[in-house]
Amino acid sequence: KPHFAIAIDGPAASGKSTVARRLAEKLGLIMINTGAMYRAIAWASIQHGIDASDTEGVIAMLDRIDLRCGVRDRGSIILVDGVDAGDALREDAVNSRVSAIAAIPEVRRLLVEKQRDYLELGSLVMEGRDIGSVVFPDTPYKLYVDASEEVRLARRSAEGLADVVSQRDKEDSSRKTSPLVVAEGATVIDSSEMTIEEVVDEAMSILKSKG
Ligand code: C5P
Repeated sequence: KPHFAIAIDGPAASGKSTVARRLAEKLGLIMINTGAMYRAIAWASIQHGIDASDTEGVIAMLDRIDLRCGVRDRGSIILVDGVDAGDALREDAVNSRVSAIAAIPEVRRLLVEKQRDYLELGSLVMEGRDIGSVVFPDTPYKLYVDASEEVRLARRSAEGLADVVSQRDKEDSSRKTSPLVVAEGATVIDSSEMTIEEVVDEAMSILKSKG
């Protein structure tokens, strides 16, 4: 039986990561967080002292770093030159530059290839911004988890994390290459007024209806 992918896209702090994790647990699948991959490149650019606006510098860096994407405890793990940046991937310095880094076509080409490679390891749930539209456009399993901006800001601050959510969404939705969109064939779940349990149940019934 060939491996399949469940694509989960949506804006920052929409609840898509939590839903993706729960779905992967329930279905016994690998869970791949693609935001962490873009964050790892952003983090590496900081280590290398490259300005986020220095597109050529970032592209040149891609050839110099050793990027390994693997799986640990059924979740994705990214090593840059052998280092797992861990919590540093969620720091302000990364938040404020990751959207600029993710807008570079060469960065996306490299990471999308690695994202597709994950399917060799098994069936998976993958979350991001362009999974249903670009990475796995042929999968029948596509969800787009949304929430009002007010709710998303409240959720992110409840996590105790300062984040430039609105700024990132604006950049992610307006970039030329693979902007955040509702993919063709995706089902939108507006989680604004829903509990996580309700969103997971809704997601499960949508997936079941697709076979
Ligand atoms: O999902 P997360 O908020 O951690 O993603 C961080 C950033 O990575 C996003 O704001 C976006 O710029 C970029 N990203 C992307 N495409 C994806 C996943 C994340 O451009 N598939």
